[in-house]
Amino acid sequence: MSQKYIYLGTNTKMYKTIGDTMSYLQRLHELTADLANSPLRLFVIPSYTSLDRAGIYLKGSHILLGAQNMCWEKEGQFTGEISPVMLKETGVSVVEIGHSERRHIFAETDEQEEKKVKAAIACGFTALLCIGETKREKEYGISDEILSVQLKKALYGLKPEDARKVQVAYEPVWAIGVNGVPAAADYVLMRHRAIRSVLCALFGNKAGNGVPLLYGGSVNKDNAVELTKLPDVDGLFIGRSAWDAEAFNNIIRQVMI
Ligand code: 13P
Repeated sequence: MSQKYIYLGTNTKMYKTIGDTMSYLQRLHELTADLANSPLRLFVIPSYTSLDRAGIYLKGSHILLGAQNMCWEKEGQFTGEISPVMLKETGVSVVEIGHSERRHIFAETDEQEEKKVKAAIACGFTALLCIGETKREKEYGISDEILSVQLKKALYGLKPEDARKVQVAYEPVWAIGVNGVPAAADYVLMRHRAIRSVLCALFGNKAGNGVPLLYGGSVNKDNAVELTKLPDVDGLFIGRSAWDAEAFNNIIRQVMI
């Protein structure tokens, strides 16, 4: 079951040049080397341009490499998109799908996320599916319905054995980024419980309980421990508070005690 691992990862969004990413990874690697055989599942999702160098550096290490997005086609007339085959050759093992900024700034739809999840699994990646309700949807009291729709569409048609290649990050849209407000622990508890029950309905209890379920959105050194202690929270997906290797390592240490 996933519960024996703690998943901690960061998405560096459109920050850090190749040089910045490499310095960051080298420092993070050094600081966390002693946790290589621990239950920590550590991952970093940097810019596309740094993936090749990062993949060479991280090969065989305890830090997994991810991509922030992916096209569902392997090749073709898709200007500006990145193919799973191209990601594969850089050493990426995790692909982030449906991040709130992709959905809300670049108008990605659940139907597109579905195609990406299927393509990611078919190409041997772990699909890190991001879901979350907007502030308005929360006010309407329909958060669980929205999360359920996002899950059911993006994971449509997958079999219980495919669930092993899926991770879900619950990231309420209103909690993410500089204007975000971190979600309260009891709110996260309820949403994660609801998400877990949808996963169990889709895949059966065994496979559904095995899907790692991460929380993201203004995670910081002050709320990380409380959040990871919640039932149905298998880890954290962190932005700003993890972009300095020392700061990320401090959070990792607090959580791993
Ligand atoms: P912040 O932690 O900066 O709110 O970002 C979270 C996030 O979007 C991770 O993908």
